[in-house]
Amino acid sequence: MEISPSGSFWWEREDLSYHGNSLFLAGRDLEQIAQELGTPLFVYSAQRVRQNITRIRTALDKTGIPFSLFYAMKANRFTPLLTFLKSTGLCGIDACSPEEVLHARSCGFDANEISYTACSVSPADLAVVLRQKGILINCDSISMIRKIGEVCPGMEIGIRLNPSMGVGYGSVSVLRYSGDKTSKFGIYAEQLDEALSTARKYNLSVVRIHFHTGCGYLSSQLDAWNKIIGTCLDMAKGIDKLREVNLGGGLGLPHTSLDKPMDLDAWAAVIASNFSGRGLAVQVEPGDYIAKDGGVLLLTVNTVETKKNTTFAGVNGGFNLAVEPFYYSLPCEPLVCTLRGDIADVFAADAQKSYSICGNINEALDVWMENKSMPEIREGDTLAMINAGGYASAMSSNHCMRGVFRECLLP
Ligand SMILES: Cc1ncc(COP(=O)(O)O)c(C=O)c1O
Repeated sequence: MEISPSGSFWWEREDLSYHGNSLFLAGRDLEQIAQELGTPLFVYSAQRVRQNITRIRTALDKTGIPFSLFYAMKANRFTPLLTFLKSTGLCGIDACSPEEVLHARSCGFDANEISYTACSVSPADLAVVLRQKGILINCDSISMIRKIGEVCPGMEIGIRLNPSMGVGYGSVSVLRYSGDKTSKFGIYAEQLDEALSTARKYNLSVVRIHFHTGCGYLSSQLDAWNKIIGTCLDMAKGIDKLREVNLGGGLGLPHTSLDKPMDLDAWAAVIASNFSGRGLAVQVEPGDYIAKDGGVLLLTVNTVETKKNTTFAGVNGGFNLAVEPFYYSLPCEPLVCTLRGDIADVFAADAQKSYSICGNINEALDVWMENKSMPEIREGDTLAMINAGGYASAMSSNHCMRGVFRECLLP
């Protein structure tokens, strides 16, 4: 890991940095929290999450376009985090299953603060969702429009469009939800007439379009995102009661030193250029951008051993606790929580060693990072995996019966 000429690390920020030898998040010494609560431990900063939302809201405010922000709780549904978000009043919730809807309700969100966009929806799913009076519903198939029409004729709905284009982090194809390959998400252009006539048959008013075409896009991909918006607005030309457009989530954040942070003003300018003066309200539903860099996963180093020419540092959690580095090429940078010496000394190029950081799951892919230059690691050390606030605990599994972990929200 390199310190930049300005003396900082790429991931460093005011609330996440070394103070002396110790790594701090939100004013708290992470090693100390690990000692007190044990590992594996997810630690989230409520204030960082709030700042992430505020940054998005500020950029959107400047456009003058009416907007609503829904936090995609699939990124992180930790109850204290959701109740904190409710208390800020800064966002509603994007939910994708009946259980998510009910969890959001139990955390204090009213039905009309919840937007529901799901796939492969069953009548039983809809029975739960339609009981929530005022919830916003986006249909991602003609089947779903028909099912709603049969039980709730006359209601207002949104429809999820599939523009056959997608944008997501780098070139990771599994992070694109739409594109050359036909996907399950949303209604394609050639299905639109049938979708709208099905809605008419049941007197359903289509007041909203929705599209979410991928996850993790950054500023350099805003042109592609702009084309997606234009294509979806073209697709929606025949929808006469259209009054709002849900632009989905997908806003990305840096995962490596090569990534630049999303330029939110440039992002909002794309929205302004498409919506100014159109009389349409805009909705956004980011998850990752809000939650991910607010959290770290603290793990204990169980083993350090050199095999052939590779030194493995084996930690007490693997892809069962954070699948993204392993499946989606979205790495979590590992940081040593307590340095053994002055920061400049331990990060000097000749003081660092190369490690393969591995989990404790019996599968070959359970490698957090290979050939990682880091200050010396010893057994018993605590590592912090950064960017673990989104799609980590929420996607965790009990594989190898190692699914036990704790979560903690810092105020
Ligand atoms: C419909 C929908 N909206 C929002 C999101 C949130 O995406 P992200 O966390 O990348 O912002 C997702 C993620 O899969 C999604 O499917």
